Amino acid sequence: MKKITANELRQLYIDFFVSKGHKQISGASLIPENDPTVLFTTAGMHPLVPYILGAEHPAGKRLTDYQKCIRTGDIDSVGDPHHLTFFEMLGNWSLGDYFKEEMIGYSFEFLTKVLEIPVEKLSVTVFEGDDEVPRDTQAADRWASLGIDRSRIYFMPREDNWWGPAGETGPCGPDSEMFFDTGRPACGPDCKPGCKCGKYFEIWNDVFMGYRKEKDGTYHEMERKCIDTGMGIERTVAVLQGKKSVYETEVFQPIIHAIEALCGKKYGENEDDDISIRIISDHIRTSVFILGDQKGVAPSNVGQGYILRRLIRRAVRHGKKLGIDHEFLSSIAEVVLSLYCKPYPELEEHRAFIMEELAKEEDKFSQTLVKGEREFEKMLPNLMKGNSRTISGRLAFKLYDTYGFPIELTKELASEHGFDVDQKGFEECFAKHQEISRAGAEQQFKGGLADHSEQTTALHTATHLLHASLRKVLGTHVGQKGSNITAERLRFDFTHPEPMTKDQIQQVEDLVNDAIKRDLKVSVETMSLDEARASGAIAFFDSKYGEKVTVYTIGDFSKEVCGGPHVTHTGDMGHFRILKEQSSSAGIRRIKAVLEK
Ligand code: ALA
Repeated sequence: MKKITANELRQLYIDFFVSKGHKQISGASLIPENDPTVLFTTAGMHPLVPYILGAEHPAGKRLTDYQKCIRTGDIDSVGDPHHLTFFEMLGNWSLGDYFKEEMIGYSFEFLTKVLEIPVEKLSVTVFEGDDEVPRDTQAADRWASLGIDRSRIYFMPREDNWWGPAGETGPCGPDSEMFFDTGRPACGPDCKPGCKCGKYFEIWNDVFMGYRKEKDGTYHEMERKCIDTGMGIERTVAVLQGKKSVYETEVFQPIIHAIEALCGKKYGENEDDDISIRIISDHIRTSVFILGDQKGVAPSNVGQGYILRRLIRRAVRHGKKLGIDHEFLSSIAEVVLSLYCKPYPELEEHRAFIMEELAKEEDKFSQTLVKGEREFEKMLPNLMKGNSRTISGRLAFKLYDTYGFPIELTKELASEHGFDVDQKGFEECFAKHQEISRAGAEQQFKGGLADHSEQTTALHTATHLLHASLRKVLGTHVGQKGSNITAERLRFDFTHPEPMTKDQIQQVEDLVNDAIKRDLKVSVETMSLDEARASGAIAFFDSKYGEKVTVYTIGDFSKEVCGGPHVTHTGDMGHFRILKEQSSSAGIRRIKAVLEK
């Protein structure tokens, strides 16, 4: 059997399928295109769904690649020796070209000839059939004809031998999985491939994509049958190298060594420390890939950004558990980059972004972590006194709101002390808080906006035009520091280091008046704060404001997060005139302006 590294396996696989007439294609982004049902790309076939469903692929009908994948269902299992959130998947596809017979032949050849796995070490599973789809005797016969003993061919039900779809709908089908048998004794009479005892390791999956799952949950047979396969790189090299865990391979060892050097502890000596070391290794590796993706995202409170935030924060906390008392994420990220910059050049391209965002999030979280944990410890004696072993939603929410503890982290802390958390109660508090924040935000506009007269509404829109114009004339360092509107005038405070020149004041006035004359349409949308920021809206609230915000767009001129109200068109606002530009405080300027009819 070949003892090969991850880099070698990647190359051997691609070379093998290229030699069988496949075109190597580039793996896709970790953020799926056109699939709102999942946050990350979960399998090699995911970006190929449209082609499996019938679209013509520009590279042809036989494809192969390596694909970065993230499966977030596993986050809380990470820490044991086997789970990973990020992994690389090797795959090959037939888009209406060859099917089952040929594919099983390729799999057998690659496993036994290229990887030199002895045939008696292989076990396979095939679909046993149900009311909808017949028993896959064809696959079983094909394996047997190649030399796999019938006693090593297992018929299994849908929950084991059916794959897909990747999201909620799309292509799927019965599959045949290949397992490496370590030769260890069976754990019992029911021990077979899929058993968790560690005798069998799954290394490859051939999916016979013949069905399409629809929104209503029904399956339709596809006319044009496809092949989709997936081999996890990390797991397969661990098996080939005779290692018990992916963390013992060269994929993780350099990362683990870096953590050992930081904390002065050795991997393999203490189970609690090992869990923390594995969590940091996995989570930072995954974080680097999310940040360094071609569509990289930053930590936030929604979607992919929230998963990233959870990963980083959990890693930071386990760093502290190991006794690392300084910032350390970027040094781990450096190791990950050096391991992967060749197969994934996008990581190097985004190096600065990766490092900056990791440092920012680490810093932010470190500051609150100590306080939050102390607070939690303080609560403990009281909690212990009570009969309940459940932490209330209110308490969990306090940790979230005051210390930025993701609920998952509170759950983890709680479970370390034998508690669980009332998640539903937490969610209720969360929802209530959002309403209060919104009401609070509305309060802020009182004085100016409680009075929704035509004049104040127009002045409010004028404030947005002024803000956008100041940024165009002076630069994007200009940010709102305060706004106050009466029926007569607007007052706007903003960051800028020096007095404006006469000329600049004139330019700003002209820009605003020009926008008014163009009679721009004002539109409003509701979205999350992060989406708002991503769409280019100016926002001066942090996420505490509540997750959904309203964004006002004035033609092509201005886009801002704001509670409103605004005019619907700028045309009737009148003539904008700046009365005064003066200092408000250090680094802050103040403008008073009016709209003249
Ligand atoms: N898409 C299949 C899997 O992920 C190959 O296992």
